[in-house]
Amino acid sequence: MSAPDSPFDPVTIGPLTLRNRFIKSGANEAMCLDGRPTKALLKHHGDLATGGVGMTTVAYMAVAPEGRTLPNQIWMRPDILPDLKALTAAVHAGGAAISAQITHGGSFVTGMKVKGRTISACSGFNPAGMLKGNFLQRAMTTLDMDRVTAEFVAAAELARDAGFDAVELHMGHGYLLNQFISPLNNHRKDEYGGSAENRVKFPARVLAAVKQAVGDTTAVLAKINVADGVRQGATVEDAIVTAKALQSAGADMLVLSGGRNVESTWFMFGSRMNREEIVKVLRQQGEWLTALMMKMVAASERDTPFREMYFLEYSRRIRAEVDLPLAYLGGIKSLANAEQAISEGFDCVVLARALLHDTALVNKFRSGELAESGCDNCNGCVAYIYHPAGTRCVMNPPNDPALNRVAAAAID
Ligand SMILES: Cc1cc2nc3c(=O)[nH]c(=O)nc-3n(C[C@H](O)[C@H](O)[C@H](O)COP(=O)(O)O)c2cc1C
Ligand code: SF4
Repeated sequence: MSAPDSPFDPVTIGPLTLRNRFIKSGANEAMCLDGRPTKALLKHHGDLATGGVGMTTVAYMAVAPEGRTLPNQIWMRPDILPDLKALTAAVHAGGAAISAQITHGGSFVTGMKVKGRTISACSGFNPAGMLKGNFLQRAMTTLDMDRVTAEFVAAAELARDAGFDAVELHMGHGYLLNQFISPLNNHRKDEYGGSAENRVKFPARVLAAVKQAVGDTTAVLAKINVADGVRQGATVEDAIVTAKALQSAGADMLVLSGGRNVESTWFMFGSRMNREEIVKVLRQQGEWLTALMMKMVAASERDTPFREMYFLEYSRRIRAEVDLPLAYLGGIKSLANAEQAISEGFDCVVLARALLHDTALVNKFRSGELAESGCDNCNGCVAYIYHPAGTRCVMNPPNDPALNRVAAAAID
């Protein structure tokens, strides 16, 4: 009998081979300037590459300016190609691959005012847009769908031209493509609404178009929800339908996440938000109203004691039903967790907080220096997506704010 795969073994995902199976999850870095990557972003992902990951994911790269939820997120346009190239070069120099999480917020635009109504699966009141006056959303027409599909394709082509090895289409957490998949948002009466098969049609169409455009050279991934975690939300049975449709559309691998930014952050993180830290950071930035709103949202959260590998039961259900590569995500804390996920048939493991806490964790696992992450799942880091120096672990020294004021490709 051959030995089971190890998380340190290489793996092939479509046209891409990774040196090992550890992937840094897309986690909003807040390291850009006018939608352009900064030196801080370059350092962060360069550190992850030298720290041993097989691939790192640059979070939330919006395919259109109004697709950002916060102003400090990347907006994909030809103008930033030199900065994207500097970023991919830094990661490749560290021996890792790099993935671009391309996305559109749809009606989930919390930190900017969008001209007119935000787009979504359906029309109506938009609770997520209240802070910046995006009170109303409108249902996308077929023309909107064509335009957004073209925006995803253009973003994927730009990522490929900049040297990214993979693109990850964000279809979870409540962003635009998830607004189609989730029955919490999608009440359409046409062929894009109703059954789980219908709800995934538009996201699958976007993925197929991206695959056709860049799939020869670039791995095409999608991040989906194993479930929304709330009543009336998408279930694991829906996720199985979604996974099958995305496999048919050509996905090279699915990253299995869960939860929604508005309704169920506790489900996404397997633990409560850190209300105190969020309010502290937002107040420092003068965002009093947002701080108040966050306090109210956090107060309504379900108290969830953290559990390692908190999506495992859901993810196993999907693993049993589809045969495309799947990446396990959610509460990986130790080498033993990673080994278990691989031994259960997941092709990769995806980590956010453990790698935010220690960018060299994979090398430390490999050398035996550490068997477990020191991250205590306090969720303090989530507050720093609002900080001008960028996201960081509260246990680590502060980031250098100067690095976040210089474009990635600027000559030193
Ligand atoms: C500070 C922070 C920012 C995040 N931002 C994003 C994001 O931009 N896109 C995304 O898909 N997930 C985001 N996430 C969620 C993570 O990718 C991941 O799904 C979640 O943290 C669970 O994985 P973990 O248990 O390994 O941390 C973020 C997480 C953290 C901690
Ligand atoms: S702030 Fe640090 S210790 Fe707390 S959850 Fe984030 S990475 Fe882990």
